Amino acid sequence: MVWMEVVASAPAKVILLGEHFVVYGEPAIVLAIDKRVYAKAELRDDKQLYLRSVNLNLAGHFENRFLKMEQGSAKEARLRFEPLKLVVEKVLEIYGESPGVNVEVNSTVPVAAGLGSSAAVAAAVTAAVGALLNVKVAKEDVFRISYEAEKIVHGTPSGVDPAISTFGGTLLFQMDTGFRPLEVKADIPLVIGYTGVERSTRAQVEKVRHIRDTYPRVVEPMMKGAREIVLRAIDALKEDDLETLGDLMNINHALLCGLGVSAESLEWLINAARKAGALGAKLTGAGGGGCMVALAEDERLEQVLDAIQRAGGRPFVARKTDEGVRIEGT
Ligand code: PMV
Repeated sequence: MVWMEVVASAPAKVILLGEHFVVYGEPAIVLAIDKRVYAKAELRDDKQLYLRSVNLNLAGHFENRFLKMEQGSAKEARLRFEPLKLVVEKVLEIYGESPGVNVEVNSTVPVAAGLGSSAAVAAAVTAAVGALLNVKVAKEDVFRISYEAEKIVHGTPSGVDPAISTFGGTLLFQMDTGFRPLEVKADIPLVIGYTGVERSTRAQVEKVRHIRDTYPRVVEPMMKGAREIVLRAIDALKEDDLETLGDLMNINHALLCGLGVSAESLEWLINAARKAGALGAKLTGAGGGGCMVALAEDERLEQVLDAIQRAGGRPFVARKTDEGVRIEGT
């Protein structure tokens, strides 16, 4: 059975602890959040691939490997659509034929903000096109294919974004051992604040490399500290000990500041969140702009949200979700 139209979705993510240090082999904790990216796939009766991003106002189609624009900037479209073309081609390879496909992406996750929007889009598109063609695409395949797409976007990504978008939940990630799902029974009430500043993960990672190369004996104990923070947080998550978790987020942020990856735009929002009663607040992802994340008890969430907004951020409440990529409907 071939469906005429399928919608799939995948969650965005937030790095709770351990970003940057993870690049040097330390562990990090990542959560899927209840902010999802939606991809609709439809069959066409020609052999063309049409792509549209509703939120980015981009539309175009591929003709003999060349992108023909219909809406928006060609430069931005190439950046967003090339990985999606690869995703569709990988699914068509499994299918064994090349029908025409329309793909429409709908997302409220800010891009280049550290929330893993590109990986979530790739995972949702893989699942939607797979289901459209009734191709057996297991979660492992969605992960593998969206990881390939992420390599086009980021060069050498750790793989944590496609993993969390595919499998959902809370993952402990370490370069040499990979992913391990963490048992987290309790809810983790978070407020995420977007600075509105887009930044490049690659440039931020370079900045840290420079600091580490220049001051190895200073940075080495910071790495150890970051590891201890994550190990301690695993217990705090198990025990639903939000106070400890908040402290650990604050300490983690101090270490990230030391590496030079915070920014004024982030500091305003982090301080505002703490003053409004957050248990902890830190930058999340690569820093230099992008997003911060605050942990707050339920009764404080609104206050923290307001404070971040007044400080110039774009805040939203986020809950962890166990649901990874999924088919929404046909
Ligand atoms: O901001 P993001 O989601 O691109 O996160 C980057 C996380 C880093 O640890 C800084 C880099 C990485 O590859 O793990």
